[in-house]
Amino acid sequence: MAHLAKRIVFSPVRSFLPAARCHTGRVDVKRDLLSKEVSKYSILRRLLCSSVETQPTSTEKKVTSGQRQYNVGVFGAGRIASTVHIKNILKNRRLNLKWIVDDSAEAVSSCKELHYLHQIPFHESGERESLLNDESLDAVFVFTPTDTHADYICESLSRGKAVMTEKPCGETYSEIKRCYDLAEHVNKPLLTGFQRRFDTTFQEVFQASRSKALGNLRFLRVTGRDSPKPSYEFLKNTDVSGCSLISDMAVHDIDTTVWLTSAERPVSIYTMSHMHDPIMKEVGQPDSAVMALKYGSGLLVIIDSDRESPYGYDMRIEMFGTEGMAMAENPRVSASLVDIQQGGKLNKLYHSFPQRFEAAFEKEIDHFIDCLDGKDTPLIKKEECLLTMEIVEKGVESFKTGKVAYL
Ligand SMILES: NC(=O)c1ccc[n+]([C@@H]2O[C@H](COP(=O)([O-])OP(=O)(O)OC[C@H]3O[C@@H](n4cnc5c(N)ncnc54)[C@H](O)[C@@H]3O)[C@@H](O)[C@H]2O)c1
Repeated sequence: MAHLAKRIVFSPVRSFLPAARCHTGRVDVKRDLLSKEVSKYSILRRLLCSSVETQPTSTEKKVTSGQRQYNVGVFGAGRIASTVHIKNILKNRRLNLKWIVDDSAEAVSSCKELHYLHQIPFHESGERESLLNDESLDAVFVFTPTDTHADYICESLSRGKAVMTEKPCGETYSEIKRCYDLAEHVNKPLLTGFQRRFDTTFQEVFQASRSKALGNLRFLRVTGRDSPKPSYEFLKNTDVSGCSLISDMAVHDIDTTVWLTSAERPVSIYTMSHMHDPIMKEVGQPDSAVMALKYGSGLLVIIDSDRESPYGYDMRIEMFGTEGMAMAENPRVSASLVDIQQGGKLNKLYHSFPQRFEAAFEKEIDHFIDCLDGKDTPLIKKEECLLTMEIVEKGVESFKTGKVAYL
């Protein structure tokens, strides 16, 4: 459509007109005919252009004079910050990146190199008080390890800054509550980055369940199998007193479950798990788990999680109800299918989260800007984040006791 609109804007009919005006007589007749043609084209062009303009792509964001640019700071220049968010912040013309805080010289240097950030100041976390006291700063992004989230979020909110944070916004129910209570108190947006909420495929399954097209829900199956396997350094240092497979990874699947069930409260949860990898066994952390949740409505939910999927990043949903079924399948690197005598061949799954959720991560930031503009409120609600953390905590309790945990 954009292409066609462009061709009409620069059509030869249009460029011919000024020359025709220089002549008289027979030329006037031609001019009348041409004017009629041009007005037909301009109506069409207006229609085409308006439909193009109301649906800007994420890379063609429209900045009108009424819109502000926001000054933002970033905490964390590690894996997700460097590969996903900083790139999206830099390319979004509505955001002006003022600084980045990270305590690791290695992370700073690789982030600088990757994005050619030699003009953006990098700071250490000890300097954050003066950075946050800057009145011209509108918002803060938190991409540091989860155990730092609640403090950084609250320090930022209490200085009047809006916050978007990577998931989850705290390590415990009480930390999450502290963050959201403060956001309410200071009346600033707090957005937790559960990016699957912004994925078109997942949203279509959500719409099917929301519209009751599936009838009464009986089963929900959520699959989360990671790729690549996280480093042992990460696995040995993340929530080792709990269960990082649930609190760090399956927390996405639990958020998806809370979303798809419109925050219905489960009655009970049972976790089964296994430690296949001897190094994981040494630290007492499972690499495979299944969580079974039962709801008062009769809905049964199965979440299966694994730390390593050798065939690519595998995230799927299936909802089954009395009237139908909806699935979110994995998209592939390309949509080609090669059928030959020996059989058919599809392209592979995406390697990891930056590729699979590339568009969703961009939409997440656009949504945060809508919240800064006051046009929207954070899509992921306080009550949903609290229920997600309650389910995480009960899932971990069941993992530790080997018994059913009740909510
Ligand atoms: N949404 C997703 O799919 C997804 C995927 C991966 C990670 N995450 C989340 O993103 C967050 C970061 O994960 P990551 O994998 O990028 O971790 P990471 O360890 O690669 O990056 C964290 C960065 O924070 C820096 N840092 C550590 N402590 C700090 C402090 N006190 N102050 C300032 N900087 C500090 C580290 O030097 C590092 O560069 C985690 O909360 C994680 O749960 C989300």
